[in-house]
Amino acid sequence: MYQFLSTSLLWDELIEGEFESLKLADKQLIVVKKNNQAHAFAATCPHAGASFCEGWLDAHDRLVCPLHKYRFDIVNGRNTTGEGYKLKIYPTKIEENIIFIGIW
Ligand code: FES
Repeated sequence: MYQFLSTSLLWDELIEGEFESLKLADKQLIVVKKNNQAHAFAATCPHAGASFCEGWLDAHDRLVCPLHKYRFDIVNGRNTTGEGYKLKIYPTKIEENIIFIGIW
């Protein structure tokens, strides 16, 4: 079971599609605002540990790893290019403009 922890990120200050890096409960995470939702996921690639800080979203809103270009769905973590890895994603919620992330 996860517990929602508050972050220093404010919803109305996030720029659509721009990655925000933060550390929360000893986890390095990336948060991105996309399609009016906040998405949170692990900051390192499950394949070989590349940093997603240098990654980007493609035209279909899939996360692209900068090292080997594997792609991941930021909603369910699925490895859409089929290599069999799973992106670790975290639930989010917004209360009074503050972004909370569910950590377990
Ligand atoms: S390290 Fe990300 S695809 Fe290889």
